[in-house]
Amino acid sequence: MNSEHTHLTPHTSRLTILITGGNGQVGFELRRQLATLGDILAPNRAALDLSNADAVDAFLAEHQPDLIVNAAAYTAVDNAESDQAMATRLNAELPAQLAEYCHQRGSWLIHYSSDYVYSGEGTTPWQEGDATGPCNAYGATKLAGDEAVANSGCQHLIFRTSWVYSAFGKSFLATMLRLGAERTALSIVSDQMGAPTPARLIALVTQQALATLNNPKTANDLESGVYHLAPRGETSWHGFACEIFQVAKQAGLPMTISPEGVTAIPTVDYPTPAARPLNSRLEVDKIEAALGIQLPSWQSQLALTVEEIASSR
Ligand SMILES: NC(=O)c1ccc[n+]([C@@H]2O[C@H](COP(=O)([O-])OP(=O)(O)OC[C@H]3O[C@@H](n4cnc5c(N)ncnc54)[C@H](OP(=O)(O)O)[C@@H]3O)[C@@H](O)[C@H]2O)c1
Repeated sequence: MNSEHTHLTPHTSRLTILITGGNGQVGFELRRQLATLGDILAPNRAALDLSNADAVDAFLAEHQPDLIVNAAAYTAVDNAESDQAMATRLNAELPAQLAEYCHQRGSWLIHYSSDYVYSGEGTTPWQEGDATGPCNAYGATKLAGDEAVANSGCQHLIFRTSWVYSAFGKSFLATMLRLGAERTALSIVSDQMGAPTPARLIALVTQQALATLNNPKTANDLESGVYHLAPRGETSWHGFACEIFQVAKQAGLPMTISPEGVTAIPTVDYPTPAARPLNSRLEVDKIEAALGIQLPSWQSQLALTVEEIASSR
């Protein structure tokens, strides 16, 4: 138990919550989920360019948020190989800067990280305390961000998640729904294993974590640190794609692809600028125990998101 632990509620009656990356997959869902907890500040890129450290400092000084939820990141994994300065600024220096503010103010920082901080070797699900060892530049910048937050002295939750998708924006799900309605044959990588995680689940668990911290009776149940956050179960990108096509058909979305048209291929047959980890499995016992929750299966979560997409068309 951390004796330094302080609650979320500030001296003023309502929390001022800064959500960065509010137009991203996770940020968009956070804006919906956290609205009941306080007043949300979610400046878009035009209002606050997070690559500009001075602008970030000026924003923090002007608005004095009581809580920061950092959903902004440089997430273009392949581009990060050649654009390391920007990836480092967004994924490492920005979290360090936000953590410094939170340390000074005694505020909590909620930060998101990735399965890519691990090496991707083996087949055992990663535990939060396992050795890290990213295999690409994106993973290295995310790890640097995690370390900066952990070493800052601020109260923090770092949620490491995997294979994020949502009903909106660019994701593997969106690409598969488009290609599955255009093509009759596709080749999909089948030797990278992990759990597809909907942004809505990440936002929901974040909301539960914040409610836990905000309740004096439960606040001490949740300690600062790293927590894995993904649904239960595992699959490959090939398995994910096949499930998408099946669920989409059931939801009434027009699909041209059939199960026989989806070929499983190894990673070596799909070269990308950045190496990809083969083992992205994340053990989620720690967050389940801390919040007293049971995370749902990745299949049930996918069905919910596809239904949401189908009903909005
Ligand atoms: N996507 C995945 O598969 C995945 C997997 C594991 C972990 N994660 C982690 O989960 C978290 C959320 O990811 P996500 O998928 O929600 O990311 P995302 O959809 O790519 O959203 C990133 C957000 O950051 C904002 N941003 C980037 N550079 C900015 C800048 N210079 N100024 C202002 N805003 C800027 C983007 O703004 P614009 O909207 O203007 O572009 C966007 O809103 C990240 O920490 C990520 O590393 C993601």
